[in-house]
Amino acid sequence: MEGYEKLGYMALNVSDVSRSKDFYEKNVGLQASGDAEGIAFLRCSEDHHNIALYGADKPGLKRAGFEMKSAKALDDLGIRLASQGISILEVPAAERKLLGLGRAFRITEPSTGATYEFYDDMRQFGGQPFKPTVAKIQRLGHFVLKVRKFDEACRFHTEVLGFRISDRVDGMICFMRCHPNPYHHGVGLGCADEELLHHVNFMVTEVDDIGRAISRFNKAQVPIVNGPGRHPPSGSMFLYYLDPDGITVEYSFGMEEFPVEGARKPRVMEPIKASIDYWDSFLDPRKATVGAIERLTPFDPVKEKAA
Ligand SMILES: [Fe+2]
Repeated sequence: MEGYEKLGYMALNVSDVSRSKDFYEKNVGLQASGDAEGIAFLRCSEDHHNIALYGADKPGLKRAGFEMKSAKALDDLGIRLASQGISILEVPAAERKLLGLGRAFRITEPSTGATYEFYDDMRQFGGQPFKPTVAKIQRLGHFVLKVRKFDEACRFHTEVLGFRISDRVDGMICFMRCHPNPYHHGVGLGCADEELLHHVNFMVTEVDDIGRAISRFNKAQVPIVNGPGRHPPSGSMFLYYLDPDGITVEYSFGMEEFPVEGARKPRVMEPIKASIDYWDSFLDPRKATVGAIERLTPFDPVKEKAA
């Protein structure tokens, strides 16, 4: 299977679109790339958008969008999902136009309830390169979800979606790359007692991006909730902070890259704090506490109980 190009974009629910747009533009360093029908688009690449902000009561994850390597890769994934009994919802043409997408469909990830979207292509933003401002953002890096059915969720992401495990913190966290995309993780799952968006990550270019962010956030009273620290699994230096709704956002610098073939096997790490941060850095309890997962279809508690 040809697989994935990359994690393409995150659609986030926020309580005040213009306030959050201002934050992601001025404090995080994304570039605004248009507003339509109440949605604010921002980018950190040549794509139409890498973040889409929607107004909603409960801040958190609306959906995650994955760009496939090709139309065939999208078809192959659709066939595999259907064979597993997963319902596929084609994104209507009017919405695809709004989002700048080619063919696209959505599913509900069975364990987390998160909406995943897969598409073959996203329009480029007028061929204009992304111009970094306050941080040299390289790309939208990854997101992590908290989930109760941790083992089931790991199985679905690997066996059905075709992600590859890069490392695991035993029974706690599973880091997966969107094969053949080389980066250590595009998606992470954390074993928890709830389903929640844990954080959204942007990869930056140099250690100075982390240092400057600490000063910028302190001046702007943006809460830093963890770090600076270093993750042993990926080797990334990290800084976690909160957006205006309290959604956790991460900058990370440096990440292991994997070859398409002959990659090292996944490591299993001890489920201890040092496996997550070997600098034992500052940690605020507000980290990863806001991030409701919006369901694609209305939540049906009877069906959920039976599952
Ligand atoms: Fe992360």
